[in-house]
Amino acid sequence: MTYIVTDACVKCKFMDCVEVCPVDCFYEGENFLVIHPDECIDCGVCEPECPVDAIKPDTEDDPSGKWLKVNTEFAKIWPNITRKGEPPEDADTWRDETGKFEKHFSPKPGKGT
Ligand code: SF4
Ligand code: F3S
Repeated sequence: MTYIVTDACVKCKFMDCVEVCPVDCFYEGENFLVIHPDECIDCGVCEPECPVDAIKPDTEDDPSGKWLKVNTEFAKIWPNITRKGEPPEDADTWRDETGKFEKHFSPKPGKGT
């Protein structure tokens, strides 16, 4: 089992999650973060830290396993992030949007810290 980052993170990217992870297993994209499934120890402490509830156990993934695939794929190629940076200026305006991944997800890497 692992935890996974899901749609609500896209364009919000608040990064409170990275501050609490004991094994530093978050990886940063341009407008999204992912968890490395092989590094996550399933402690669950990041889940309540996300202001938009983007983090879920993989038992709550889509039936297709979509989010586990996204987290697995991009954790391999994006830089590690261990400290909270500045969220996007318009992050609050994206809080209630759904279907953000299909419309706005960027596969580009973030800067990492
Ligand atoms: Fe890190 Fe624990 Fe969250 Fe996994 S569940 S990403 S180990 S804080
Ligand atoms: Fe994303 Fe929530 Fe972390 S918005 S960056 S999963 S705190």
